[in-house]
Amino acid sequence: MATVQEKIQDLRKRLAKIKLGGGEKRIEKQHASGKMTARERVAQLLDAGTFVELDQFVRHRCTNFGMETKELPGEGVVTGYGTVDGRLVYVFAQDFTVEGGSLGEMHAAKIVKVQQLALKMGAPLIGINDSGGARIQEAVDALSGYGKIFLNNTLASGVIPQISVIMGPCAGGAVYSPALTDFIYMVKKTSQMFITGPQVIKSVTAEEVTAEDLGGAMAHNTVSGVAHFAAESEADCIQQIRRLLSFLPSNNMEEAPVYEAGDDPNRMDQELVTLMPDNPNMPYNMKDVIRHIVDKGEFYEVHEHYAQNIITCFARFDGQTVGIIANQPSVMAGCLDVNASDKSARFIRFCDAFNIPLVNLVDVPGFLPGVGQEHSGIIRHGAKMLYAYSEATVPKITVITRKAYGGSYLAMCSQDLGADQVMAWPTSEIAVMGPAGAANIIFKGDPDAKAKTDEYVAEFATPYKAAERGFVDIVIEPQETRPRIITALNMLASKRENRPAKKHGNIPL
Ligand code: HXC
Repeated sequence: MATVQEKIQDLRKRLAKIKLGGGEKRIEKQHASGKMTARERVAQLLDAGTFVELDQFVRHRCTNFGMETKELPGEGVVTGYGTVDGRLVYVFAQDFTVEGGSLGEMHAAKIVKVQQLALKMGAPLIGINDSGGARIQEAVDALSGYGKIFLNNTLASGVIPQISVIMGPCAGGAVYSPALTDFIYMVKKTSQMFITGPQVIKSVTAEEVTAEDLGGAMAHNTVSGVAHFAAESEADCIQQIRRLLSFLPSNNMEEAPVYEAGDDPNRMDQELVTLMPDNPNMPYNMKDVIRHIVDKGEFYEVHEHYAQNIITCFARFDGQTVGIIANQPSVMAGCLDVNASDKSARFIRFCDAFNIPLVNLVDVPGFLPGVGQEHSGIIRHGAKMLYAYSEATVPKITVITRKAYGGSYLAMCSQDLGADQVMAWPTSEIAVMGPAGAANIIFKGDPDAKAKTDEYVAEFATPYKAAERGFVDIVIEPQETRPRIITALNMLASKRENRPAKKHGNIPL
């Protein structure tokens, strides 16, 4: 009979074997392709020494194609919990060195377990994907595994932050788990996502494309908008995830953590005055405005490379997380289009679900005109912004810096859509449409058109008509924007807004 010491030695041996995953050769191959192993990734992501691994001994039950004798250490996925900056998170990381990280019944069961634990404990879940997809030998059991993961992704949506990290292949229906989560990170050159790969595409449509061009990090960060963040390397990616988590609450019942601001809440900033060109048709960079008003000038962009005519980012005011949605006059004059509408509506809904106040910086000449936009459904997509802002019950602060015309004035969270405080710089132009367009219609054929247009500009291209009706609460000088926003956020801290009970709304998709 084995002694206690022998049993302990046996446990250590078993764990050591499991920790080696698919073995040294495959680990070398993983490293050679610029990738870390699953355990190395988890160790870097979590605070040192905090990872508790679960289900190391879980084993597949497949007997097809000689699988009964196949050892798959850890079932090809490392799961467990630990902390990031001292806060609890759950994690799973697919282990490509074990049968290509392919997903079978029990691999899925391990993921589902951490999904359910994260939901029960109200802690973020970070899923690191690196997998050949459904384990082919396990047939429908593998599909069922994916189905369970999708269901749990959906149940957890809006309750805990879910972050997906693509650090290798992610193909076929497997892409839909990340797509159901809040944020997708991709690493340049080593990660790909697609429903059907280059070979299938070639045989079906005769299109020739590389895997990177089809579904690499930049394809999904710039063209499709599927991914929200692009990282230079896996180490960079992990640092970015830790940064993102610092802005977020652990669940929908909590507020985001408050940090030492390191910046004077009453700081006036004269550069905001010179930043705005005198000519209202000249562009400026709205990111400079953001940099001058937030704590220490630091902000973290979501969808940085996608629909750059609108900026969505997390930042802090006096240590408190906010979500900023800002038109970008230096890209397409800051017009709203299909992609900008989708980008901002999704961001607004994330912030609302997780109690993050919204700060809207407005300089928008309108929705982008064109057959392409109309036929792509700008009506349907633009409606998402209106819906998302109207639905959001978190504090909503709108600062109009310059143009706010027509439907886009409303779409950027006007008072009527529930903005709790609307501030306007004296450079604001709040009107039904731009002066030139308006003059074209109402003074058409009038010999005094020029003089009347000038009169229209003086009268209507200002914040004062809107302020006369109370649609603008305060007209502020640009340099006082930061203290004004912080004062408004403090005033709104106790905001409670109830909505009619319903199963769920029907956002135009
Ligand atoms: C079983 C798999 C596997 C899979 C890889 N492996 N994918 N085993 N099921 N899906 C195994 C390989 O046989 C190999 O085992 C090891 O993992 C490493 O794979 P390699 O091919 O040697 O690696 P590499 O050359 O880097 O190529 C990676 C790859 C390729 C591009 C991912 O493995 C591949 O194309 N795999 C199949 C992808 C796929 O079609 N999956 C099904 C998608 S459909 P050995 O023992 O030789 O080392 C799907 C549906 C999901 O996922 C639906 C959800 C609703």
